[in-house]
Amino acid sequence: MKKALFYCTECGYEAYKWLGRCPGCSSWNTFQKIAAGDPARCKSGAGVTGVEVLSLQEIPVAEEERFATGIGEFDRVLGGGAVYGSVILLGGDPGIGKSTLLLQVADRLAAFKKVLYASGEESLYQVKLRAQRLKTSADPLVISTTRLVELQEALFSIKPDVLVVDSVQSFYKEELDGVPGSINQLREVTADMVRLAKEKGTVVFLIGHVTKEGIMAGPRLLEHMVDCVLYLEGERYHSFRILRGVKNRFGSTNEIGVFLMEEAGLAEVTNPSQLFLAQRSSARGGAVVTASIEGTRPLLVEIQSLVTASNYATPRRTSAGIDLNRVALIMAVLEKHAGVSFLGLDTFVNVVGGVRLTETAVDLALAISLVSSLKGKSLSEDTLIVGEVGLTGEIRPVSRIRQRLNEGVKLGFKRFVLPRLNLKDLEQGPKIQSATHLVGVETVKEAIGALILGE
Ligand SMILES: Nc1ncnc2c1ncn2[C@@H]1O[C@H](COP(=O)(O)OP(=O)(O)OP(=O)(O)O)[C@@H](O)[C@H]1O
Ligand SMILES: [Mg+2]
Repeated sequence: MKKALFYCTECGYEAYKWLGRCPGCSSWNTFQKIAAGDPARCKSGAGVTGVEVLSLQEIPVAEEERFATGIGEFDRVLGGGAVYGSVILLGGDPGIGKSTLLLQVADRLAAFKKVLYASGEESLYQVKLRAQRLKTSADPLVISTTRLVELQEALFSIKPDVLVVDSVQSFYKEELDGVPGSINQLREVTADMVRLAKEKGTVVFLIGHVTKEGIMAGPRLLEHMVDCVLYLEGERYHSFRILRGVKNRFGSTNEIGVFLMEEAGLAEVTNPSQLFLAQRSSARGGAVVTASIEGTRPLLVEIQSLVTASNYATPRRTSAGIDLNRVALIMAVLEKHAGVSFLGLDTFVNVVGGVRLTETAVDLALAISLVSSLKGKSLSEDTLIVGEVGLTGEIRPVSRIRQRLNEGVKLGFKRFVLPRLNLKDLEQGPKIQSATHLVGVETVKEAIGALILGE
C-alpha cells in the first residue's frame, strides 16, 4: 500500500502531497513531511491511507470478512453478520427500541471485539441504567458527547473494532454551519463515519431518526452513503418489533428479524408464525390465515377485515399492514368478477402483529377475509389460504408453495386453499402430510363458493 508522506501537525491528517490547508481541521500551513520510521499519527482517524489500483484478480480476499453478532434475528437481516468496514444505519420511530437493540448488539460483540458505544442523546448514567435493565454481561466502552471531534479523539486512542453512534443526528462539527441534525452536519458526520469504516475496517452502526412520514430524517443521500439501512418497526403499544432491511450491499433485503420488547430488552422470536397466531382464540368472521414468504422463511399471519355499513357519504377505507391500493384492487376484482358489492360499506383491514405484507401471494386470503366479514361467515380454524388474484378474477400460482404448506402443517393447519396450478407442483416430490386436505381453486368466485357459501 502506498504510504502517506505528509501529515498535519494540528490534527494528524495524513496525505501524499503537501497541502496548504488541512482537510481535517481546516488550519493553514500545518503540513510536515513524515520522517522515515515515524509511527502513524492519524489523530482524527480521517487521514488518507493510499489509493490503490488493482485488478479484480489481485484484490486479496480477507479470510474472515463478516462476523455474527450472536443475535440471530439481527444477523439474519444483515445477511449473516456484520461485514468489516461497513456502515449500518438503523432507523425507527422514537422509543421503538433502537438504543436498546444496539446496546444489546454492543454487549454481545464486546465479548470478543473492542466496542465503543458513543451516546449523543443520553448521559453515561442513562446508558448505564439501560444496561442494568438489559442485564448486559460484557463490557463495551461508552462515551457521552455530541462533539464529533471528541468522538474522534476517543476513536484515535481506543481504536475500536465496532462503533455505535447513537444518534447520527446528535453529533456535530464545530467548524460547520448549522445545528446538529441539519443537512450540512449530517452529511459531514456520516461521511466521517464512512471514511473511518473504509480506512480502518471498523464496523459502524449509526442510529438515525425518522421523520413523521417514517423515512430517515435528513437527505436521502444518507441512505446512499451507508452500506446497509435497517428499520426497526412495530406498533408502539404492542410488544412485537420487526427489523427490516431496506438496503444491504452485502445481503438480501427480504429478510426480517422478529423481536419481542420485554423488560430485559429485545428478545428474539425464532418461530414468529407460532407467536403471531398464538393470540387467535377461535375463528371469527373476517379473520383468515395466510402464509407469506419473508426472505427465506415462511411466515403465517392472520389478516382481519371489518366490513360494515358506512355513516358517511364516502365510505372509509383503511388498511394497516397491506398497501391500501392492493386492498382497493382486490375489492374491485371482487365487485367485477365475484358479484360482491362494497357500496356504502366502510372497510378496515389489519394484519395482526404489526407485520407488513408485500407479497401478492396473500391476495386470495385478503379477498376471502373481506367477503367473510361482509357475509358474517367465519372459516374453520384449520384453514390456510394462499394465492395471487389476477385482474380478471383468476387465481395465479405462487412461488415456494411447498414451504408455505409445510409451515402450515407444522402449526396444525389441515385444510389448504391454493391455486389449482400449484397442485401440479405438489404432485411431484414428497407428499404433504396425509391428513391435509388440499383445495385447488381457479377463480376468486370459485374460492368464495367453496369457503363462504359452502358450495
Ligand atoms: N422496564 C421496561 N420494560 C419493558 N419495556 C421497556 C422498559 N423500559 C423501556 N422499555 C421499552 O423500551 C423503549 C425505549 O427503547 P429505546 O430507548 O431503545 O428506544 P429508542 O428507539 O432508542 O428511542 P429514542 O428515539 O428516544 O432514542 C420504550 O418505548 C419501551 O417500549
Ligand atoms: Mg435511543
